[in-house]
Amino acid sequence: MRYLMIVAAFTLAACVETPESGAQIFAAECASCHGADARGDGPYARGLETAPPDMTTIASRNGGEFPTDQVMSTIDGLQRDAHFSAAMPEFGAGDMGATVIVENNGLGTPVPTKLLLLTEYIELLQR
Ligand code: HEC
Repeated sequence: MRYLMIVAAFTLAACVETPESGAQIFAAECASCHGADARGDGPYARGLETAPPDMTTIASRNGGEFPTDQVMSTIDGLQRDAHFSAAMPEFGAGDMGATVIVENNGLGTPVPTKLLLLTEYIELLQR
């Protein structure tokens, strides 16, 4: 009986745990380099050979359109051009959470939750 109650308590704790938001994940895993406001002035940025760019201008640098796929691939590490700094971790190598299906050009594409939340958050920061 006691064992069952412990299991029930753990299950309840897992259920009420609030999912992290994109902003929280960014603050915990990206702001050290990219800065709290994503403009590239995090505490680690100074020591890097390539400075992290101002992430609030990704869309304006791309003709006004936010390049969702490209941003996701950059974070994941799947697709980076040859000159991309090795300083930034390839987050796809770690755990980015359970996958959800998102629609992409009419196709259902599986995307890890954290990757989706981060990309949506960065899109909101565009000015
Ligand atoms: C250890 C430092 C570091 C950490 C941590 C880091 N990055 Fe980066 N990131 C960089 C650097 C440096 C660049 C620029 C690389 C280049 O252009 O060669 C970059 C570039 C990017 C770009 C391309 C931006 C643009 O304007 O084109 C995106 C998107 C990005 N990072 C997202 C993230 C996200 C999301 C996280 C957290 C999950 C993260 N980064 C964590 C260092 C870091």
